[in-house]
Amino acid sequence: MHFIDKAVYYQYIYSNFSCKGQSLYNIALFASGRGSNCEALYRALSSRPSDAAIVVVISNNSDAGVLEFARSVHIPAMHISRKQFATDGDFADSLCATLASHQTDLIVLAGYMKKLDAAVIRRYRHRIVNIHPALLPKFGGQGMFGRHVHEAVIAAGEKESGATVHLVTDEFDEGPIVLQERVAVDPTDTPDTLAAKVLIVEHTLLPRAVALFVSHAIEIDHNRVVITHETIHENRDIFDTHT
Ligand code: GRF
Repeated sequence: MHFIDKAVYYQYIYSNFSCKGQSLYNIALFASGRGSNCEALYRALSSRPSDAAIVVVISNNSDAGVLEFARSVHIPAMHISRKQFATDGDFADSLCATLASHQTDLIVLAGYMKKLDAAVIRRYRHRIVNIHPALLPKFGGQGMFGRHVHEAVIAAGEKESGATVHLVTDEFDEGPIVLQERVAVDPTDTPDTLAAKVLIVEHTLLPRAVALFVSHAIEIDHNRVVITHETIHENRDIFDTHT
């Protein structure tokens, strides 16, 4: 949906809120760790009127910082792990039921260390994004997570790294790219300093990518993401689409 007129836009948003806290565009976020991307997305969505909200946070790790953060801002936080179920199918059914009960429009994987079940990927086809701390298609795939990514980038002598938001398919880190942003790799960088630089970029890239989905600006053409339009001006700082 694309609104040219600001007043019409807000009228549309507020006429569809039956009570505070309900959103028109529901995001389910999966993460396994500290959750800084979850926090960045939450803050971006809360910083000004938005028709989107994180409605549930799911983690495979009961100790994950992301669950603690979600609870602190009153987002339903759920520990759902394969270990709690007899079969892959039961696990996938439980995830799908949770996602359906929250009327999920978009799934965001932000540091989720497990592969999503094919049934979930099928059901939410083209509506699942992942953030990866490198410039895909380089430095992606099985085993390329966390510190390993930055070690590999430095070992390869790369001059640039960055972050990628991409659609999730059955293969690790292989889906069509939505947005990327670069950072310079300096000769003095260590995996830790590089990770810190990339993380700063991630914290704006993920909200920008999500905003494109919220404003229905994403189309898929021959397995490529096409960004059809920018969203309204007042959300420009988080909804900007420069690439
Ligand atoms: C990020 O670097 C993300 O790119 C990767 O996992 C990390 C998660 O960090 N997939 P956080 O839990 O969001 O702080």
